[in-house]
Formats: sequence, structure tokens, C-alpha cells
Amino acid sequence: MDLSPLGSHKTLLPADFYYQEAIFQREKENIFKKNWLYAGKRTNLQKEGDFYTVDVLNVPIVIWLTKLGLKAFVNVCPHRGAQVKLEKSGSTKALSCHYHGWTWDQEGVLKRAPGERGEKDLHKCDYPLVELTIGEVDPFIFIHFEKNPQPFESQFSVLLDAIRTRGIDYSALTYHGAKSYRMKCNWKTVVENFLECYHCPVSHPSFCDLISMADYEVKTYPRHSTQYGYLRQPDQPLDALVQPDSYGIYNYLYPLFMVNTYPGAGNASTNIIEPLGPEETLVTYEFFLDPTMDPQEVEKNISLVHEVQVEDVTICEAVHRGLKSGFYQAGWLMKAENGVHHFQQLLSEDLRYT
Ligand code: FES
Ligand SMILES: [Fe+2]
Repeated sequence: MDLSPLGSHKTLLPADFYYQEAIFQREKENIFKKNWLYAGKRTNLQKEGDFYTVDVLNVPIVIWLTKLGLKAFVNVCPHRGAQVKLEKSGSTKALSCHYHGWTWDQEGVLKRAPGERGEKDLHKCDYPLVELTIGEVDPFIFIHFEKNPQPFESQFSVLLDAIRTRGIDYSALTYHGAKSYRMKCNWKTVVENFLECYHCPVSHPSFCDLISMADYEVKTYPRHSTQYGYLRQPDQPLDALVQPDSYGIYNYLYPLFMVNTYPGAGNASTNIIEPLGPEETLVTYEFFLDPTMDPQEVEKNISLVHEVQVEDVTICEAVHRGLKSGFYQAGWLMKAENGVHHFQQLLSEDLRYT
């Protein structure tokens, strides 16, 4: 593969990285399965025994609040391969497969297989459920498919500090539903578009009415980046703006998750990126707002995020058509696109092309 060298201002990835099936398969193995991935919200679990099921990259997973703490298991039965729990959510003391009734305890140990007495060579210890590692930014739950990944807290410690400094308690916000957008483009186009606001003055007029572009900045860290956008109040001195609620933070957790907070009272929206194929991506926005916010303000918040996203769908699909045209090689990254460069570096390293 022909990548531009690191350290130049050229984009690092050639156009075919954005539509080739072989690259997409490589990304699945080298990126998605080797990094922290979003797997739902703790607010789905109220009491011990509660569980919910979720698919992460087509892997069925069950998240379960046990007396031993929060657990994540691959929701696939070691007996004949069925999905163990079919329900979206429920409450149980033991996970029992809906097909033949094999049953596991809270540590994923097989406790019971109907008819097991007649099977003297069946060793139950050979058939545990596969347990996954969990990371959390309350209420957001992440899983990792590897056995001993870099701990979530160490990978995202600066991000966790940025959230604290901004004074956001995500778990205290009320969930206001989700909107999904199916986009005809590669997942990396969606991520790269998120990672710079160089396009904002041209493409997002409403966003720029609210946020100042003059002091907008993108800070990059080992596995994440945070964009800081200050309220647009030209007459106010800068130090007056550095109040906890006077700026927004737009956070990217490599590779497939973003969580944003606009200036003002408690608000957050997540962007969950789901690569459906090399040329198709599903993006889901979830909305979380201060419980005391009045309905009009709720509507205003959600519609601003929706408006920006609709503008971004048009942009990303246009980029995809250009990348596939055969007339695009490597482009040029401006200083304001440092977040894109950071992402492309991480990606090239994970794909082992550097
Ligand atoms: S496939 Fe699960 S018990 Fe048989
Ligand atoms: Fe945008």
C-alpha cells in the first residue's frame, strides 16, 4: 500500500482505503477488534440481575449486572452456537440458553447441561462463556475483545479529566432518545469530518452563530482527541469565557465513539459509528439533557445537533463520491486539521502500514 510519509502535511491515506473490501476486513481485525468499543448504557441496568443484549460489530453480547459487578459475555452458546439470550433485556440469576437450556453462573462457568449425567466425557469446565473486559465513563459502557487490553482509564485519562473540568456528570442527564443516519460513505470519512471544524464556517452556519471559530482548538492525545469550542461572545474578555459552561467539548474516542457537550446547561450527545461495509456507515446520535430543562430548550438542543448532522451527511457522501472517482490522490491537511492527521496516524499504525 502506498501511504504518504508521516510528518508531511499530506493526507496519509490513499483514496482506495475508503472503499476497498480488503482494507475494511483488515480494519475489522486490526482496529475494531483491538480497541475499546461502545456497548450501551448502565442506565439500562437498575438492579442486580438485570441484563441487556447488544450487537457490537455483529458479535452478540450480553451485559449483566451481577453480584460480582458489571459483566460482559459473548452471547454465544458453546454447545451448538446459538445466541444464548434472545431478549433485549431482562433480569436473571443465571444465564440460560434458550435452545437446550445449558446454564452459566455469574462468572460464566457452565453449571448445568440437561442430561449431563449420561455424558461422562463432558467436562463442563471446557464450556465457559467468553468474558469480555469492560471500561466505563458512567453511564457509557465499553467492551474490549482482547484478553488483557490497555486499561480503559489509562487510555482515556485526559479525556476523563476534560469531562470533569467541564463539570459534566453524564449519568445525571436524562436520555431523550436517538436518531440514526445511514450514510453512503466509509466510516473513516465520518470520523475525519468530525475531527475538524475547518469546514464549519462554510458548512455549518448555525453552529458558527453559537461557537467562536477564532479560538476553536483540537487537542490530541494517545487514543483520543478533544475539540474545545467557546461561546461566540465577541464583546466579552476571554477569561470571562473560561467558565465551566461557557465552552463545548467534542470528544473522539478512537475508533468509533464520540461524545459531545455544547456550551450551557447539562447536555450531551453521543455519536456511535457503526461501519456496515466499506461504503456504508450507520451513525446513531443519542441525546442526554438536564432533567430540569424545559421542553422548548430540549427541542432547540436536539434540532441544532440534527441540523449539523444533516449537513454532515451531505458532506460525507460528497467526499465518498470524490474518493471513488479515480481523480483523487493524497490531499493536504491544514493546521486546523491536526485531529485528522492524528487519526490517520493511529489508523496507519494499527493497520501496520508504518
Ligand atoms: S445451543 Fe445453547 S444449549 Fe444448545
Ligand atoms: Fe461537520
